[in-house]
Amino acid sequence: MTEPKRLLLGILLATGAGWSLLVWMPLTKLGPAGPGGAPFGRAAVGGRIYAANGCASCHTQVVRPANLGSDIARGWGARRTTPPEYREEHIVPLGVLRLGPDLANVGERRTDVRWYYRLLYDPRTIFPGSLMPSYRYLYARVPLLGTPLPDALPLAGRAALAPGFQVVPRPEARALVAYLLSLQRVPPAEADQSQ
Ligand code: HEC
Repeated sequence: MTEPKRLLLGILLATGAGWSLLVWMPLTKLGPAGPGGAPFGRAAVGGRIYAANGCASCHTQVVRPANLGSDIARGWGARRTTPPEYREEHIVPLGVLRLGPDLANVGERRTDVRWYYRLLYDPRTIFPGSLMPSYRYLYARVPLLGTPLPDALPLAGRAALAPGFQVVPRPEARALVAYLLSLQRVPPAEADQSQ
């Protein structure tokens, strides 16, 4: 083989190997689109609020395989999460630390909108002594004129308000809760699939 041909072959092999390692192999791992798809509309706005408030500093969105931890046994997902479940998402808040539970499927196990509103307003009304900060700035305190607004929070005990006031979620809290409800990365119907 002549020098230029050998050089050409070398270049082809080097680019080919790089391409298959960095492009082709990851693409084959992606597979078809995930079950839920990327959040859209209000839930997508909520995803940005989730990121901006640093929720990912305490919560992951990754269900580990059964042989690498107790995530599945804890009910955080019927199987491990795989790359298709994050496809087309602008922000993928995988998280690095778990001070709180994994949220990859929280929308599937917690379905009560009011429960989320209470949690974000004051986590300790639900989990006494919780480490989770309260996100009261996502709510508005407005005067109570006659009957409370339909989505006013039922606050009592440590979160009770001065008489004549009520607390309602701001659009940011609504979007964040829509996002949390949309988090159903591994639907239970898939439980029979490989873990
Ligand atoms: C400092 C750590 C921390 C941060 C930051 C944090 N959380 Fe939490 N979160 C927790 C802990 C710990 C729990 C578990 C409840 C408990 O025992 O305190 C929890 C529980 C939850 C739950 C209930 C999960 C379940 O399976 O029951 C949800 C939903 C949640 N957090 C959402 C959020 C969102 C949304 C944000 C950001 C706005 C956030 N958290 C920020 C620590 C945190």
